[in-house]
Amino acid sequence: MIAVVLAGGEGTRLRPLTHTTPKPMLPIANRPFLEHQIAHLRAHGIDRVVLACGYRPDAIRAHFGAELEYVVEPQPLGTGGAIAHAARALSETFVVANGDVITDLDLSALVRFHRDREARMTLALHPVDDPSRYGVVVTAADGAVTAFVEKPAPGTAPAVTINAGTYVVEPDVLDLIPEGRAVSVEYEVFPLLVGAGLYAHSSNGYWRDIGTPESYLAANLEWMPAGGLVDPSAHVDPGADVTGSVVGPRCRVEAGARVSRSVLLEGAVVTAGRTVENRVMGSDGEPVW
Ligand code: GDD
Ligand code: MG
Repeated sequence: MIAVVLAGGEGTRLRPLTHTTPKPMLPIANRPFLEHQIAHLRAHGIDRVVLACGYRPDAIRAHFGAELEYVVEPQPLGTGGAIAHAARALSETFVVANGDVITDLDLSALVRFHRDREARMTLALHPVDDPSRYGVVVTAADGAVTAFVEKPAPGTAPAVTINAGTYVVEPDVLDLIPEGRAVSVEYEVFPLLVGAGLYAHSSNGYWRDIGTPESYLAANLEWMPAGGLVDPSAHVDPGADVTGSVVGPRCRVEAGARVSRSVLLEGAVVTAGRTVENRVMGSDGEPVW
């Protein structure tokens, strides 16, 4: 099965990191985010990954080479436009994944659910406390979507199950996406499919969108081995106190420094006597956030 991964956003909420590194290449537990995502897709039988790229595709291509297929947009086409641009030639059921979500979703079960209902498009769902930065989805008992509201104002959401950013799609859905301009699948396409073949399936497993500073730090701490992760090329002085953190390549932590629940990005230096807690440290030795 083919998966289209939406990997072309500018990652504005993760600036300044995304000024130089596109979001899919940001390290999570010292490996590019996209490696984790692709491993999950492959484990569920995805044998072709088509990357819908826009912003800084070269860094992605340089790392993955021929392992992936790349479709580069001439200008940002939005989530819907990107799906159409990358999948226009497909004539079989395919998967779409937001390129910033890391999850243990049972994708195979989602595809079965989609086929059982003869759906045109099926969304994975995830429960959250505050849905205001997501797409809120309301479903009937059989999973048919009865309402989709992208980014509801805080306190106004009709439900707390959200669009988890993984879809199973029939190719005829692409006919709903106009060509030649940016189209948001969330604002413009899902509303057209409500009551017309859009289904959604709940999942309660692990799920995280890495797109904000807080969630980027959280994802790193969730993916490191228990106790922490230190890249072999880093130097942590025996007199330093480093706990529950990710220490990247060529970092240096000096004697007397304390680092806890933090991420040290490649080349970061924590000097003697300094304390770093719940932070992402950049290669210039200063906190990014
Ligand atoms: N190729 C391409 N072109 N990709 C794009 C474009 C574009 O113009 N715009 C955004 N993307 C990619 C982003 O890089 C990201 O991987 C994905 O599409 C979703 O965009 P985000 O900007 O991260 O959206 P969001 O997090 O605010 O909301 C989306 O994800 C939520 C779950 O994390 C929506 O799908 C919500 O409904 C959903 O709940
Ligand atoms: Mg996102």
